[in-house]
Amino acid sequence: MIVVSGIQPTGNLHLGNYLGAIRNYVKLQDEAHANGGKCLIFLADLHALSMPHDPAELHASTLEMVATLVACGLDPAKAVLFNQAQVPQHAELQWLLMGTARMGWLNRMTQWKDKAGKNREGQSVALFSYPVLQAADVLIYQATHVPVGEDQKQHLELARDIAQKFNNDFASEEAPVFTLPEPYIPEEAARIMSLRDGSAKMSKSDPSDMSRINLTDDADTIMKKVKKARTDPEPLPSDITGLVDRAEALNLVAIHGAITGKSVEQVLGEFGGSGFGTFKPALGEALVETLAPISQRFRELKQDRESLDAILARGASKARELAAPTLAATYDALGLVRG
Ligand code: TRP
Repeated sequence: MIVVSGIQPTGNLHLGNYLGAIRNYVKLQDEAHANGGKCLIFLADLHALSMPHDPAELHASTLEMVATLVACGLDPAKAVLFNQAQVPQHAELQWLLMGTARMGWLNRMTQWKDKAGKNREGQSVALFSYPVLQAADVLIYQATHVPVGEDQKQHLELARDIAQKFNNDFASEEAPVFTLPEPYIPEEAARIMSLRDGSAKMSKSDPSDMSRINLTDDADTIMKKVKKARTDPEPLPSDITGLVDRAEALNLVAIHGAITGKSVEQVLGEFGGSGFGTFKPALGEALVETLAPISQRFRELKQDRESLDAILARGASKARELAAPTLAATYDALGLVRG
């Protein structure tokens, strides 16, 4: 089991990122560690160049994200934690795969179409070729499991297509250069919605900070946000069918379940018939119990630049070592002469 995943260093992680992705990384890290597998989690800082970006901001948020990931339970002793920029083999393999990836494949990527909109001519080449770098990210480690959200499934399929074509063109079935990676989408991947609008995903780009719970919020802020969360005047039903057309209520119940490890039915079994005056404080307490230690640890780590640099340096050194054999095999397969 070789788990590989990347996360964009956009900064300001929130409850949706934690329940939807990061908590899952921690689980996979423990599973891989227990089974003699590997887990590599990296900050996709090279991917940030595909859109206009502010260098100082990228630098700060990369460090901030390492602190957040470690505060959430990613353990540098169990997982290889690093940023792409310190492992040049990712960019190197991307170039080697550029001869295999097809324009038509990239043209079909929905993320490209969404981000480019009507102005394709004005986009960076990096935005277009972004999925080839993503393929290199996972293929270079022979990844078997790639934990991603639904929106990244198509990029993973592209990585499989590239691996398959490369193996066909330059290797043999008996001795392939690349392993075909599988997307790993946990069933219970919680889809957490905005606290202000039950039909919109919780997002860092929502202008209202009240719409999300940041992993850096302190206990009072968490409580305040939960109490002010939008709801309806009805008490909670005791059955899930009673949550139809009550998106905000459903979201709060789902958050409670995700954080306490219960199903929506179980939460309703406990709180059915109660009003939000009872439910919200209980939800707030459950959130504080899980998130307060995370934000506490984050604040300590963020001050400790030396530790953060050391974590990344150690992870990058391990990653470079793990990347070397596949990269060498790729050069060889392509007939490139290297001393
Ligand atoms: N494109 C992914 C995202 O936006 C981030 C990413 C980059 C990634 N490289 C990856 C995810 C490799 C999984 C594997 O979320």
